[in-house]
Amino acid sequence: MAAATRVPLYTPLGLLAELTHRCPLGCPYCSNPLALERREDELDTATWARVFGEAAALGMLQVHLSGGEPGARRDLVEIAAAAHRAGLYTNLITSAVGITADTLQQLADAGLDHVQISIQDSAPGSADRIAGYDGAFARKQALAAAVVALKIPLTVNVVVHRANIDRIADMVALALKLGGSRVEIAHVQYYGWALRNRAALMPSAEQVARAAAAVDALRKRHHGEIVIDAVVPDYYARLPKPCVGGWGRRSLNVTPSGKVLPCHAAESIPGLEFWSVREHSLGDIWKSSPAFNAFRGTAWMQEPCKSCARRELDFGGCRCQAFALTGDARATDPVCHLAPRHADVAALAAAHDDGPYAYRRM
Ligand code: SF4
Ligand code: FES
Repeated sequence: MAAATRVPLYTPLGLLAELTHRCPLGCPYCSNPLALERREDELDTATWARVFGEAAALGMLQVHLSGGEPGARRDLVEIAAAAHRAGLYTNLITSAVGITADTLQQLADAGLDHVQISIQDSAPGSADRIAGYDGAFARKQALAAAVVALKIPLTVNVVVHRANIDRIADMVALALKLGGSRVEIAHVQYYGWALRNRAALMPSAEQVARAAAAVDALRKRHHGEIVIDAVVPDYYARLPKPCVGGWGRRSLNVTPSGKVLPCHAAESIPGLEFWSVREHSLGDIWKSSPAFNAFRGTAWMQEPCKSCARRELDFGGCRCQAFALTGDARATDPVCHLAPRHADVAALAAAHDDGPYAYRRM
């Protein structure tokens, strides 16, 4: 019998704490699952505090307080304080709707280190239409001003798609005006609600090329003023992204009800067994949970990944995307030009639909 290959166990770096799936906005590009978890199933404050302590004991450095909209939690300040007490760098990812200036002050007092605010567009009418919430744009501007006034570092998150991708320069200008030190330009990742809205969100090849040129020019123009992070969108790439830095290798997600996932979309893969922080410690889950071990290392790979020189660089791409596009989570991510199903990606990128969005709703 061949000796089993030992898979090195890395230290996870970041914890994505999905405090709630509740959110006042309805963004059609949301990567939360279609089956959103209910308020009555959410973890309580004390359990989150225990999880943060276990994360720090595992050697984790940072926690992202996310959702849904974390501001929907009445105990957000206590949760942030617990993360800070555990010694974690604490980042709040917010839509800005639901966080008042008073709450922000309390969060700052509790030790919050960083804030990320998402914007949907540079034009208020379009931004509110994409968010599915009248007045969201104005609320974001107000919270950004409050963050900057408190001297908390601010990143502006921009998710780009067909309706806003031609205004990248305006959105970077807005991020500068808001006082952001970094702007993260992310193309839609097609999971959850975004997968449902894929044809309505998909940019054209010409838009993607124009956007790439715009980002290059903006980086030169604003060098030293703002950091601009941007990557090529999946469906227009030749090589896949090393999703979540490799499955079970660098990061983990805790859902509102306490399930621990190797990535935010892992529940879309049928048959995986997720353990919960209600029954297991985070360290135990990281090491032994069946879901985390399902795609660790390279032994699970099929060809062409199995014998490819890049298999420890991109880890075969994204398991959730491989499943969504081929029905087999062990397949090569079809974004890869070597994947047998690569042609499917070009066909999907060409499929556009100008019908109404399916807004994310509980
Ligand atoms: Fe990455 Fe697999 Fe493509 Fe090689 S064949 S580049 S490992 S996705
Ligand atoms: Fe799950 Fe990429 S989103 S592995």
